[in-house]
Amino acid sequence: MSSSLFSVPEIAPERLPDLLRSMPKAELHIHIEGSLEPELIFALAQRNGVVLPYASVEALRSAYAFSNLQSFLDIYYAGASVLMQEQDFYDMAYAYFVKAAQDKVLHTELFFDPQTHTARGVSMDTVVKGLHRACVAAQAELGVSASLIMCFLRHLSEEDAFETLEQALPYRDLIIGIGLDSGEVGNPPEKFARVFARCRALGFHLVAHAGEEGPPAYVWTALDLLKVERVDHGVQSSKDSALMQRLAKDRIALTVCPLSNLKLCVFPDLASHNLRQLLDAGLAATVNSDDPAYFGGYINDNFTQTFAATGLTAQHAYELGRNSFDASFIDASAKRLYIDQLKQAFEGFR
Ligand code: ADE
Ligand code: ZN
Repeated sequence: MSSSLFSVPEIAPERLPDLLRSMPKAELHIHIEGSLEPELIFALAQRNGVVLPYASVEALRSAYAFSNLQSFLDIYYAGASVLMQEQDFYDMAYAYFVKAAQDKVLHTELFFDPQTHTARGVSMDTVVKGLHRACVAAQAELGVSASLIMCFLRHLSEEDAFETLEQALPYRDLIIGIGLDSGEVGNPPEKFARVFARCRALGFHLVAHAGEEGPPAYVWTALDLLKVERVDHGVQSSKDSALMQRLAKDRIALTVCPLSNLKLCVFPDLASHNLRQLLDAGLAATVNSDDPAYFGGYINDNFTQTFAATGLTAQHAYELGRNSFDASFIDASAKRLYIDQLKQAFEGFR
């Protein structure tokens, strides 16, 4: 186990929330459009003259009752329709970075969905420049390092993904990786095998949502056909013991999002979540917020609520923190520095 060289101190359960909130961590699964709080949606709608089909912030928030992934995506794409100008993308990302800094996120890798915006006439230039400018400000003003992962929408065609990749190439140096998101069932990874092969040849890091609602077979094809380095969600993997062994053996990280899984009815309650099973089977699971404005919490809410519901321990907290840095796309020396800070935080709790 990765923590074998560090002896994690015993920490009383009542002190765990403080430890979880103050421990350094990386966030590797956050859709930046999913960080748009209703207040900001309304402010941007007013700034851009967009008419929303909701009378108030409260009315919008009360529509956040989801039965599955698709019921959420319909509202999420409508919310993103207020983003028009470079400054809107900057403001959205910067608001997330402020929350991330409060949650002791030292490094984050943001997903963004350009097709949601280019389909409305907003250019790739507007999207990427606004987000990148916010990443630069996050490092300078908040001490949060941040990079961008461009996702293809899997309910759209492979051809559309190829076109999106072409549009992104002028910004190649501002994007570290490629992901795959949106409605999973019926849109298996193999639909995007060729465009992922092209992205791989271009030197992008590769990740994909798989095994959120979809079957373990989608996790296998994400690994074997798309050749992803991390699996986003992946919680359905526990239904396939050979897959669990493969994920553990190859230390493929799963970016798990417990409150998302709860709100999208992947698990009936947090106590039934399989995060503990994944960790105890030796998988490199991490904790993340997915779409925090929609699912009732940022990364520390995910940590504290899941630990309270499932009885995870300080040892698990250390593993989750360590996995988050190990699975990130930062260089080895930066990883070592962050993991040293994580160890110091645990030592301080002795
Ligand atoms: N886009 C934003 N959130 C998502 C999720 N949880 N699954 C798939 N696509 C998404
Ligand atoms: Zn996601």
